[in-house]
Amino acid sequence: MQTTYMKIKETATVISQECLCDGVFSIWMTTNIAKSASCGQFVSVYPQSGGRLLPRPISICEIDSKSGSIRLVYRAVGGGTRELSRLTAGDRVEVLGPNGNGFFAAVSQEIGPDTKALLAGGGIGIPPMLELAKELSCEVSIVAGYKSSDEMFLTDELSGAGKLFVSTDDGSYGTKGTVIDAIRENAITCDIIFACGPHPMLSGIKSYSEEIKVPAYVSMEERMACGIGACLGCTCRSVHTDDHSKVRNKRVCADGPVFDASEVVI
Ligand code: FES
Repeated sequence: MQTTYMKIKETATVISQECLCDGVFSIWMTTNIAKSASCGQFVSVYPQSGGRLLPRPISICEIDSKSGSIRLVYRAVGGGTRELSRLTAGDRVEVLGPNGNGFFAAVSQEIGPDTKALLAGGGIGIPPMLELAKELSCEVSIVAGYKSSDEMFLTDELSGAGKLFVSTDDGSYGTKGTVIDAIRENAITCDIIFACGPHPMLSGIKSYSEEIKVPAYVSMEERMACGIGACLGCTCRSVHTDDHSKVRNKRVCADGPVFDASEVVI
């Protein structure tokens, strides 16, 4: 299902910024995007530097529609995001959004109060799980996968939004291994899975959902250029022919980033 959203491009004002752990930052900003955004969508943040004109796609971590603000939690990995990480309260930044479909627009089934939802996030795919957990009004289990205990972030907030389980690659906290290992070790049961993270993790989630026969919705992390569906720079392979490109591709920025896992090749 594809839904069209009213996008806004405007200058947002930074409320606060903090470093959560090495290289991972949390920024709150005031923007009208908060009025129409929902979990799983992302914003394009425009670097101020004239030499780097491409916007940076960053998923929305929290939305406060009452105060008109959003929270982005991101890893500063390149010039654009490092520039963003230096902004402080009162600074202004150009943003476009909300972009993409979001989790609820992608879900084809009803989520009732008796539903058991499993939310799996890996690395910088963890932040969108926080807003999703807050918006779901059913039983929520969250599995967050980190490299190590030194790189854990958002755990307090996630614990407040659902039952939190953690995996670390090196076993320094929680289950040693992947989010799938943590799901199995803790015998977490569910009727629906939502996931965001690197490809190997999403591939594991897709296989696991087929194994236990529950639907899974995955938010794909692809490199993006335009961020608005125009350049085909962010395609992933799908099992169906795409209306736009006439090939078996989906544009992650415009058709996703959330897809039914059974409809994409991961
Ligand atoms: Fe250009 Fe998705 S980034 S189509």
